Amino acid sequence: MAITSPTERIWWNQPIHKAELIWISLAFVWGLFMFFMMIYWHGAGEQNLSNEAYRIQPAVFAEKTQEMIDAYTVRQEGIIPVVHPPPGSDVYLIARLWQWWPILEFEKDQSYRLHLSSLDWQHGFSLLPVNINISVHPGYEMVVTMQPNQAGEYGIVCNEYCGLGHHTMLGKIYVVE
Ligand code: CUA
Repeated sequence: MAITSPTERIWWNQPIHKAELIWISLAFVWGLFMFFMMIYWHGAGEQNLSNEAYRIQPAVFAEKTQEMIDAYTVRQEGIIPVVHPPPGSDVYLIARLWQWWPILEFEKDQSYRLHLSSLDWQHGFSLLPVNINISVHPGYEMVVTMQPNQAGEYGIVCNEYCGLGHHTMLGKIYVVE
């Protein structure tokens, strides 16, 4: 019973039961195995992204995003600018309560360096339907090189709970021919 003192006061000196040792060893070996599988899957399964992460002040990230918007906005959707940055360039996407800003338009088979950061707290970038998922934190930018291979409209949803408007935090990426 946990609410009374143990009869054996120095319980931590008791030898570990064999069954417990076996389970601990099994879990440890499995953990090691899965650790090396992550590396294997990165190459063979193309499952884990080669993303980079850097420290950045939210204000600096907002400034860089605004510079890109000022230079390459091609139209508006409601209040949200649609930005068509040149192929090969650095592209910025802001996560904040509760929107992805701006809408991006990429060209098919061109490569872009997509920078993601948050201006307030943690959000989750989830690109649909291709299932690319990246955590987005304030103070850090995640950079991922992407080369879309299919034209169309892609949805971004936030997959980290971020408050009352979490379910309305939707964005868009267009890929054009
Ligand atoms: Cu942003 Cu949930």
